[in-house]
Amino acid sequence: MLKIRKVQLQKKLKIECGDRIALTPTMGWNSWNCFGHEVSADKVKRAADALIKSGLINHGWNYINIDDSWQYNRDGKDPSFHGKMRDENGYILTNSKFPDMKGLADYMHNNGLKMGIYSSPGPWTCGGCAGSYGYEKQDAESYAKWGVDYLKYDWCSYGGVIDGLPDNDPNKVPSLAFQGGGDPDKGVKPFQLMGSLLKQQPRDIVYNLCQYGMGDVWKWGDEVNAQSWRTTNDITDTWSSVKNIALAQDKAAPFAKPGNRNDPDMLVVGVVGWGNPHQSRLKPDEQYLHMSLWSIFSAPLLIGCDLEKLDDFTLNLLTNDEVIAVNQDALGKQGVCLQTIGELRIYVKELEDGSKAVAFANFGREKVTMSYKDFKKLEISGVQTVRDLWRQKDIAEINTDKKGLSLDIPAHGVAYYKFISLK
Ligand code: GAL
Repeated sequence: MLKIRKVQLQKKLKIECGDRIALTPTMGWNSWNCFGHEVSADKVKRAADALIKSGLINHGWNYINIDDSWQYNRDGKDPSFHGKMRDENGYILTNSKFPDMKGLADYMHNNGLKMGIYSSPGPWTCGGCAGSYGYEKQDAESYAKWGVDYLKYDWCSYGGVIDGLPDNDPNKVPSLAFQGGGDPDKGVKPFQLMGSLLKQQPRDIVYNLCQYGMGDVWKWGDEVNAQSWRTTNDITDTWSSVKNIALAQDKAAPFAKPGNRNDPDMLVVGVVGWGNPHQSRLKPDEQYLHMSLWSIFSAPLLIGCDLEKLDDFTLNLLTNDEVIAVNQDALGKQGVCLQTIGELRIYVKELEDGSKAVAFANFGREKVTMSYKDFKKLEISGVQTVRDLWRQKDIAEINTDKKGLSLDIPAHGVAYYKFISLK
């Protein structure tokens, strides 16, 4: 019989001061997966309002990040564009959809939120807007002046700089600096430059590198003052995308620690579409698996959907405090796969209180039904309470040295548990 266990309803709040920032993974929203290039200050404000109204803010979601397309585009189509991307001193101009960046950041701060922005170390962003190349100092200063709290810095056209292509060649195909024998130092340099400039600003600006994992970014991201870095290519709302990204995370795991996160890209639940809104094509079980793995990976959690169109299912996925608590755990480790049985992969993350989060992730097309006994492989032993994190319920108390745990996991689904040792 399952004994009733006292669940702690109070938590100690730990405040750590010092040079290292973003000690727990960033949580918030980003405009890209939802609005793509159709982003505007009005849509961003409405996202902030919806984040508050839906109650997401009470579960730790607090960054509102503007992705590509707040700058002028080289296509020159913006009605307010008069041939200049920057003012006479090199300070970047915002396009007509973002008339007042400082006002927008103030709006976020007055509502208890933070604001993020996006640029590229190259002359152009991936969408053809003005990047920071040659104007890094002015850009870092602008971000600080506006009150920006987060920068996503995206490789995009920087390969062209390395290849010596003319800055404004619209047909250039940026090279991937680290591939084909490229010089890794050349690819580190632009991130180093912006990292040191951000550090010189009179406010904390969380720094996210977006260069898709080139040159094993997890090995040097900390040295360039970054707090997180993309490990893989862009995510889309398909099972194969989520699966391939998930399977590529373990190699970077040893480098995760408080203030340093591997970023498998943003969440693809809810209404997404990069400007063409539609319900995520991930099935419900796939969404549980996606959210559970991003939780156990200690990944930055950035919602990518239209927050004004949140349905109950998506809201529930995003507001499970026990699933979020594993992601935000202060020990700061990244869960890794310790055992593979067919297409079942078992991820384990050590938590600060000595317990372990375990995600039994079924990547296969058949459901998995079994009595699981290999606890030694998960470094779990003795009598344990097994808590189902999604259901927020203790489901078993077992002596893991002697008894098995029955698993019944749907295709592309997950069982996300916490093992609490009963000593
Ligand atoms: C990609 C990046 C996306 C998004 C996009 C904007 O390189 O991975 O997350 O930022 O650029 O153009």
